[in-house]
Amino acid sequence: MSGERPARITACPDGPLLVRGDVGIVDADGNEVPRHRATVALCRCGVSTIKPFCDGTHKMVGFRTTEPEDRAR
Ligand code: FES
Repeated sequence: MSGERPARITACPDGPLLVRGDVGIVDADGNEVPRHRATVALCRCGVSTIKPFCDGTHKMVGFRTTEPEDRAR
């Protein structure tokens, strides 16, 4: 993928990375991961059953992107 739609990655608090725009996703072997939506959510908690995509399990496991002491600031 290249081009017309600039890539934008948004880190969701306590959740996935939202990827918008023309970005190719490949696995560890360099094989293209099919992407069926203009915006995809990539797992960063490590427990999704559909990696590299988020399946919402981060909510069930209480995934946090900040330490509790950082939240009070
Ligand atoms: S970030 Fe959602 S399942 Fe991992």
